[in-house]
Amino acid sequence: MKIGIIGAGFVGRAIGKLATRAGHEVMLSNSRGAHTLFSLPHATGCMVGTVAEAASFGEIVIVAIPMAAYRSIPVSPLAGKIVIDTNNYYPERDGHITELDKHETSTSELLARHLPDSCITKAFNAIPMNDLETDGLPEGSAERRALPIAGDDAEGKAIATQLLNAFGFDVVDAGPLAEGWRFERGTPAYCVPLNKAKLLSTLAATRREIG
Ligand SMILES: NC(=O)c1ccc[n+]([C@@H]2O[C@H](COP(=O)([O-])OP(=O)(O)OC[C@H]3O[C@@H](n4cnc5c(N)ncnc54)[C@H](OP(=O)(O)O)[C@@H]3O)[C@@H](O)[C@H]2O)c1
Repeated sequence: MKIGIIGAGFVGRAIGKLATRAGHEVMLSNSRGAHTLFSLPHATGCMVGTVAEAASFGEIVIVAIPMAAYRSIPVSPLAGKIVIDTNNYYPERDGHITELDKHETSTSELLARHLPDSCITKAFNAIPMNDLETDGLPEGSAERRALPIAGDDAEGKAIATQLLNAFGFDVVDAGPLAEGWRFERGTPAYCVPLNKAKLLSTLAATRREIG
């Protein structure tokens, strides 16, 4: 599969490296241009390009930039594509976004509003990238770590599941995109190692802070 990644920091590099190792073709990109990513092809096995190039290269596109910059993601090149959203909201980094502060929406729903013709799946946000690179276990391992996904599109969720499984993780489908708040920053499942059964019960027991 051809995967374009917008963002070439901790998340872009980790997913890029693992996806390349799993046999996918990956192009990483950032806002400053490919000349600033000179060493990455050697370090990760990925190609590098501009955001526009990564957006058109990818059969699927992964968004891995600070939340504050989500409105800079190009809209029309991603129309009709599966987009995987890894982003989290850190007001101390991103500035305040009132709807998120009030828990009226979630990060991935904001991205979906920005990309109305794309199919957004929320995945990879609830694990530190160091763990993503080191905690993977073969399928069937008793203590295999599980990670949550959410989305309204079955194909997008199937692709996220396929990638996570190849990287060594079980997956728990938390439901539609609007349920993605269940594993955002500050929730009990966020960045906590849990197996599938424990993640399922933790997500079900999570209550939303209102206001
Ligand atoms: N680090 C983790 O373990 C982790 C885990 C899960 C989720 N996340 C979330 O994933 C997102 C990315 O985190 P990160 O740790 O990878 O951040 P990071 O290390 O700071 O990297 C951000 C990348 O995005 C690029 N970028 C910034 N603005 C851009 C724009 N407008 N267009 C294109 N590229 C842009 C940056 O390069 P330029 O400045 O050159 O554009 C950089 O390559 C965040 O929302 C974070 O909260 C992080």
